[in-house]
Amino acid sequence: MCFWEPCTLVIIFDYLQTEIICVISVVIVNSWSIRRRSTAVQTTDMTRMTVKKIPALKDNFMYLVVCNETKNAAIVDPVEPDRVLQVAKESGVSLNKVLTTHHHWDHAGGNADLFKRYQADTSLGPLQIYGGNDERIDNLTNPVGQDDTLEIGNLKVRCISTPCHTTSHICYYIETPEDKVVFTGDTLFLAGCGRFFEGTPQQMYDALITKLSALPDDTKVYCGHEYALNNLRFGNTVEPDNVDTLQLLNIAKESDLEGRRAMVPSTIGQEKRTNVFMRVHEPSVQKFVGKSTPLETMQALRAAKDKF
Ligand SMILES: *[C@@H]1O[C@H](CO)[C@@H](O)[C@H](O)[C@H]1NC(C)=O
Ligand SMILES: *[C@@H]1O[C@H](CO)[C@@H](O)[C@H](O)[C@H]1NC(C)=O
Ligand SMILES: [Zn+2]
Repeated sequence: MCFWEPCTLVIIFDYLQTEIICVISVVIVNSWSIRRRSTAVQTTDMTRMTVKKIPALKDNFMYLVVCNETKNAAIVDPVEPDRVLQVAKESGVSLNKVLTTHHHWDHAGGNADLFKRYQADTSLGPLQIYGGNDERIDNLTNPVGQDDTLEIGNLKVRCISTPCHTTSHICYYIETPEDKVVFTGDTLFLAGCGRFFEGTPQQMYDALITKLSALPDDTKVYCGHEYALNNLRFGNTVEPDNVDTLQLLNIAKESDLEGRRAMVPSTIGQEKRTNVFMRVHEPSVQKFVGKSTPLETMQALRAAKDKF
């Protein structure tokens, strides 16, 4: 017996180790497959343009915008340059513009690296970097402001200045005879809006109500992050009787992360029906925060969401 006991212990220990290794590898395989799935590109084919939504980091989106006729392309917020160059190559497009929504690292953090690669490889051609006039945006070659325009091949892009989340935040609006799209960065999210880091409730009001709400209802909204579930939960708390919100919340709840990613793009019309920050005139929204003016409601709503 004395001979066997340690041996049994060793066998048990060996068995446990194998178990632990098994558990660890299952965890690694699981997180690896989640990472793999979440990098899948989703494409929206429109008549004259194509938008490719490329998930990046934890919950960011980068967008490749292609002019169908010329195959010229721009990339919105290329935080992962490797991935951007890979998708551009696979798509057979000529990428020569960066549209920066704002200076935060998870949006503009890839600009310098991408710029360097274009300088190192002249076959890629020159790279123009657009963004709000702000020295915090690396390698900005083309500072833009309200109503400035630029072209991606034959596509006309109009810049919409939306300071508040940051002082130099820009949204990019593209209109063709058939389709409209807007890239809203961290100003407007599906059912939410960005934090007021460098601005006032009045500025977010101007951005969401005066400017973005004025775009056609069928404008597709491509935002900077995947926050659908949490934002819709908040919206449902503010307006429990809003059936459109409830319907979207149920879709978000039933989807895994990848499914929720498929909820972007939204539309301006959908946001006007369901995004409480776009609905600060509504008595139902004002009642939730106990305010009677749209501006006070905007401020109180953001404070409530920050604690949600
Ligand atoms: C635009 O380009 C995409 C990708 O090449 C294509 O799938 C789509 O059909 C094109 N649209 C038209 C109307 O040609
Ligand atoms: C690009 O930006 C980086 C980081 O700010 C800087 O070090 C580099 O000098 C810039 N390059 C040019 C050509 O401006
Ligand atoms: Zn941001």
